[in-house]
Amino acid sequence: MKPSSTFPSSSTMWPAQREQEWLAGASCHTRLMADGTYLEGAQGNKPDGVLTDFPTARPPNRKFLDFLWINFGVPWIEQRADFEQSMMAIPHADQYAGVLSREGTSVIHPPHVPSLIGAQDIKYLDATGLSRHRSIGDLMRYAVVNMGLDTLARFGDFQPTTSQSASGMGSEDGTRYSDEQLYALGLDIYSLRPPPNPNPADASARRGEQVFKREGCPGCHTPPLYTSNKLTPATGFKIPDDLRKTENILNISVGTDPVLAMQTRRGTGFYKVPSLRGVWFRNGFGHSGSADKLEEWLDPARLKEDYVAKGYHRSPGPILGHEFGLKLSPEDKQALIVFLKTL
Ligand code: HEC
Repeated sequence: MKPSSTFPSSSTMWPAQREQEWLAGASCHTRLMADGTYLEGAQGNKPDGVLTDFPTARPPNRKFLDFLWINFGVPWIEQRADFEQSMMAIPHADQYAGVLSREGTSVIHPPHVPSLIGAQDIKYLDATGLSRHRSIGDLMRYAVVNMGLDTLARFGDFQPTTSQSASGMGSEDGTRYSDEQLYALGLDIYSLRPPPNPNPADASARRGEQVFKREGCPGCHTPPLYTSNKLTPATGFKIPDDLRKTENILNISVGTDPVLAMQTRRGTGFYKVPSLRGVWFRNGFGHSGSADKLEEWLDPARLKEDYVAKGYHRSPGPILGHEFGLKLSPEDKQALIVFLKTL
């Protein structure tokens, strides 16, 4: 797979003929770049209809309500009517590309779409570290499970769908990808490379690197991967002792919004430390994509009660937590951002 393709044109429209291909996964991980090229494997930026049109553009018919339950239902909501009612009360969201309400997360608290470029070095998959990634076998399992098979999983007594076949894209009734296909997919993902970085490692970037070190960022965003590949507990999560033996856990919570980690099917109680490689071609920072750009992620104004996020949001409110680098001088902050964009 080429790192950056120049097909199909410089148009900013998403051509219909690739729609099927995108639905099978490439939709979420193909990025339309500013110059009109497509970057394969990156964080996708095609707007997500479920998020942006919901609920006004879709009548709440039975099929749609079933879809919501299968994708977002959780074992602790016992009355399905309560769940459906709460869904209908959700405020409309503005269009925001780069986050996706994928199955097992939340309509209100969707995660940002990760870039798969460099995924071979990442030890935990999903923002919540739901799956370990020790080998290509784990990646293959992740791929097959996350194409709808997980909707047949049991969460205690709760099963999102009891139908005969998995719900979701890529799985025709009674079928799944073959092991050969999954192995090829894994190799393809491992072969993804970033495009040449247009941002020079100049004097300003070198100054920014000093700020990065001085502020203690490498403790978690450790070079050369710019992640320590560790998990951090979400606010309010007490780490079980046995997990400390098997997982790579940092004892510090960075205090970001805990909902995805604590109240969804993909919740583990943790957020992983993300890699900062490739932040120059991404948007929607933090697991929920609430900070549109790095400038916003490092802006202390985002902590205010009445703050309106420029990234994904449904109502005004602070972008909580991760207060590292918020107290820098304007010059240091600028240099830090210049540095981050060279990674
Ligand atoms: C104690 C560990 C820790 C330290 C120190 C730390 N970070 Fe982070 N960082 C995290 C975690 C965990 C997240 C993900 C939080 C979330 O999404 O809820 C994160 C997220 C980020 C993101 C968003 C990345 C993305 O893909 O959305 C950026 C940018 C970032 N950190 C930059 C920095 C910078 C710059 C510093 C130093 C000023 C720093 N971090 C210090 C743990 C840390």
